[in-house]
Amino acid sequence: MTDPGERLRSSLADQASPPGTDFDSPIAMEALRATRVLHAADQDPFPLPGRIRVITVANQKGGVGKTTSTVNLAVALALYGLRTLVIDLDPQGNASTALGVEHTVGTPSVYDALVGDATLGEVVHPTTASPHLLCVPATIDLAGAEIELVSVVAREHRLRRAIEAYLVSLPTERRPHYVLIDCPPSLGLLTLNALVAGDEVLIPIQCEYYALEGLGQLLNNIDLVRQHLNPGIAVRTILLTMYDGRTKLADQVADEVRNHFGDLVLRAVIPRNVRVSEAPGYGQSVLTYDPGSRGSTSYVEAARELAERGAHLRPLPAERPGSSPAAPPVAALAFGGAAPDPFPTEEQR
Ligand SMILES: Nc1ncnc2c1ncn2[C@@H]1O[C@H](COP(=O)(O)OP(=O)(O)OP(=O)(O)O)[C@@H](O)[C@H]1O
Ligand SMILES: [Mg+2]
Repeated sequence: MTDPGERLRSSLADQASPPGTDFDSPIAMEALRATRVLHAADQDPFPLPGRIRVITVANQKGGVGKTTSTVNLAVALALYGLRTLVIDLDPQGNASTALGVEHTVGTPSVYDALVGDATLGEVVHPTTASPHLLCVPATIDLAGAEIELVSVVAREHRLRRAIEAYLVSLPTERRPHYVLIDCPPSLGLLTLNALVAGDEVLIPIQCEYYALEGLGQLLNNIDLVRQHLNPGIAVRTILLTMYDGRTKLADQVADEVRNHFGDLVLRAVIPRNVRVSEAPGYGQSVLTYDPGSRGSTSYVEAARELAERGAHLRPLPAERPGSSPAAPPVAALAFGGAAPDPFPTEEQR
């Protein structure tokens, strides 16, 4: 049962409802959906992943919903009880904006960890969306990183090593269950770092005519990274975004993507929804901006599927080429259960 409305109806059927209550009215349904999202963790927590999941959200095509998906999936995972870290790897800093995290020039950011000597722990920021959600912001400084990194030793491994060192530095009960990396719309050194850092790739595909254009190039690059830099990387998830049910084209694209990628494609599809596009303007995810909206509930459904699939993953063996000798690979690290503790904030460290 994937339709959020259906889910609500069936859960409501279990509860005695006052006579005359019309749960089918649009406003009542929306209010109920909102309550569901906001009180999510108490009612219906997502399952823990079988291992720490580092997910690279990539598609070199611009404007396909990478940032929107990173942010909203991350907020959903966090609201449903999973510790989540967003790493903004795009100099545009859109994920930082959407999470309400400061990213003006001079703010400690991912740039300091990639190009400088900072640890991720020194540049991680809390978010207002959830105590379970942290963000490493990107400032415009990152725009220079593509060039500055060229002369840096092990330049493709910088992010991976930063993540590994960060996770190892945390006690198990504070390690994130999910790390989501938002990539820029290019296949340069930043995206390469994200592909080397990740254990899996999530590709958002916009349900539009040119959706599949350029995808072959992305898949080729992922293959190259697997052969030479990160043997563990694989495309594990495809998410259809900005689906407009009024157009035949959206269905055609969705069918084509499903035929091609099969089970990699999440059943949940993100509709084109104005609340989704409004939310970043308020420094918010759609889940916190308008929790009862269709955009919000579909991101919750997508995150639930992602989490359910993750529950079946097994920890990887500790030996893994490409990892720094000082730190075990991320996917071999243990984490504590879904502890109520928030992540360590800057003051706590
Ligand atoms: N489901 C949706 N409904 C309506 N608007 C959406 C939806 N998803 C994304 N958008 C809007 O589409 C635009 C592009 O989305 P987003 O920034 O997430 O894409 P992106 O792939 O990260 O872009 P870039 O390649 O520039 O980083 C944004 O203005 C966003 O608000
Ligand atoms: Mg983006």
